[in-house]
Amino acid sequence: DRPQSAGFLNSVSLVWKLGSSGSRQFFFRVLGFAKVHSSAIIGYARSQLSNDDLRKRVAGYLKAEKNALQDGKSVTSKFLNIITYVSGPYDSKVGFEQLESAIHTREIVEMEGPDSDQSTRRLFYLALPPSVYPLVCKMIHENCMNKHGWTRVIVEKPFGKDLSSAEELSRQLGELFTEDQLYRIDHYLGKEIVQNLLVMRFANRFFVPLWNRDNIANVQIVFRENFGTEGRGGYFDEYGIIRDIIQNHLLQVLCLVAMEKPVSVNPEDIRDEKVKVLKAVQPIKDEDVVIGQYEGYKDDPTVPDDSNTPTFATVVLRINNERWDGVPFIIKAGKALDSRKAEIRVQFKDVPGDIFKCNKQGRNEFVMRLQPSEAMYMKLTVKKPGLEMGGTQSELDLSYRERYQDVVIPEAYERLLLDTIRGDQQHFVRRDELKVAWEIFTPLLHRIDCGKIKCSTYPQGSRGPPESDALAQRVGYKRTIGYIWKPPTLQ
Ligand code: BG6
Repeated sequence: DRPQSAGFLNSVSLVWKLGSSGSRQFFFRVLGFAKVHSSAIIGYARSQLSNDDLRKRVAGYLKAEKNALQDGKSVTSKFLNIITYVSGPYDSKVGFEQLESAIHTREIVEMEGPDSDQSTRRLFYLALPPSVYPLVCKMIHENCMNKHGWTRVIVEKPFGKDLSSAEELSRQLGELFTEDQLYRIDHYLGKEIVQNLLVMRFANRFFVPLWNRDNIANVQIVFRENFGTEGRGGYFDEYGIIRDIIQNHLLQVLCLVAMEKPVSVNPEDIRDEKVKVLKAVQPIKDEDVVIGQYEGYKDDPTVPDDSNTPTFATVVLRINNERWDGVPFIIKAGKALDSRKAEIRVQFKDVPGDIFKCNKQGRNEFVMRLQPSEAMYMKLTVKKPGLEMGGTQSELDLSYRERYQDVVIPEAYERLLLDTIRGDQQHFVRRDELKVAWEIFTPLLHRIDCGKIKCSTYPQGSRGPPESDALAQRVGYKRTIGYIWKPPTLQ
């Protein structure tokens, strides 16, 4: 992407929460692609820091190889030099005027440069608690809008806590920015395998005739983490696993698995289809839900002793349309479980008039492994190699690490930030999409919040509450026995 994105970005303001870490590192890698000398990153937060303090913090996250040189200069130090910092509160005009002046000063230098096209680009990344989004957006809108090119704003979830709070937030932001200026980021949409769903489903004749209720028994979308809330207990307890993972990340994945073929790959056509399928999701019944909380969750002093916040949930969604009527979508997410993985598992119905019954280990499944070890594999029954005519489970396996050894798979944030710079909203959540997503989950969340549905507890490092497996089984999922897919190990 180097040639295309070079010079795309003249100026970036990064309104961020200091101390936020993790994925933010990729931001800097993306910007590494841009023409460094014509870009600027300006941090804005309340802490009193010098430019050098911020650079030191950022340096720890940079992925550039040590000693890498460009034009005889260290890549890392060239990059760190474009970073500056402005300190100010989120509600003060003075602070944002200072930010504006810092951006403007940088832009003037750029616009007067010999290669300048006299336009500039401003991207604001709000890594902040959503409670301050409206205020900060108002400040940006009043003080920091770009007069020589575009202004775009990235916001992170949680976008509200339920339908009404989300709508209120959307209304407030909508008064300040148009939909094409707002980028609601959901990093699951930036994952390689999630992005592949569109291509895989609609570019392969294999799947087109099979992808429906006539052939598919059930679909599972699973997120498992083998660690708990890790010091985020206070934040997490306000939201719980359904708001943290299911209502956004896994529901977005569901859309791509279940939606109809869009009329084109135009972002609006794709998002129209996502909204359509979400509208066909039926209200969730209590009997289709299992929630759990891991033992020890409440030991975190920031978590109240009477918390009923789920750290695990299985929710069966039902889609009332011609393609999916009767096919349960089993959505499962949990923390502090026995493994870390995210996958989509499409289980096919049994072969009618099966003549190999006695050798059967399991049903055909098409599995898309999002992480770790990106892969897509089809579990199928084949003749056991050898003299006998027995059947055995095997797979057709496309493991990315093995198949694409020389390809660097970008991190989700890397890709999504580049999309923002390019103005491609395909992998961002549209306002109406967000609304329907909240419509689906709000009644259930309210029933949990008021204690009508209670969490069962489960031991850390387990599969979660046993009721979850029982629910999946009750709605028709059949576990394969005596077979396990192993990611290939490279020589
Ligand atoms: C975040 C959630 O959105 O996604 C975290 O808030 C979760 O609770 C994380 O750990 C998982 O992201 P990934 O990319 O590691 O699956």
